[in-house]
Amino acid sequence: MYDPNLDNAQPSTRERNAMQTARMLADRAEQRLPIEWSPALSVGIESIDGQHRVLIAYINQLSNAIARGQSAGVLGQVLAGRGGYTKIHFRHEERLFQIHGWHDSIEHSETHRAFERQIRDFQQRFASGDASLANAVMKFMTQWLTEHILLDDMAYSSFLREHGVH
Ligand SMILES: [Fe+2]
Repeated sequence: MYDPNLDNAQPSTRERNAMQTARMLADRAEQRLPIEWSPALSVGIESIDGQHRVLIAYINQLSNAIARGQSAGVLGQVLAGRGGYTKIHFRHEERLFQIHGWHDSIEHSETHRAFERQIRDFQQRFASGDASLANAVMKFMTQWLTEHILLDDMAYSSFLREHGVH
């Protein structure tokens, strides 16, 4: 029998493609291959694209640090730098949501908070000398970021651009 609720639960083609791309990039990250920013990741807003590029550069920096066999302490420092910059980036997005009245602001911002909590948790584990999860951290960050860009960030793209954000 047709069940509209079940139907809603099915991911759309766009969602499936986004998740596939995110998984593919996360696999690359796991193999310590550099992640490159591509136009497919562009939300069409210069300031945000620029910040996303920096976040990807942080992932590559972490990847290099792991490849060089750096200590958990160093990995923690890279992650702290990334965490700090992530906060700046999230605040930037959230300010734009507020100024322009983006309807999904609360839900979107909540995904930001959840990610910040996750990064803090990883940082604490590195700080306690546990470098064993370095690869998993990198994979998680890559998958989260690309999925977030392709699904959540793309969702506000045309709205903000229509409100004059470029
Ligand atoms: Fe976001």
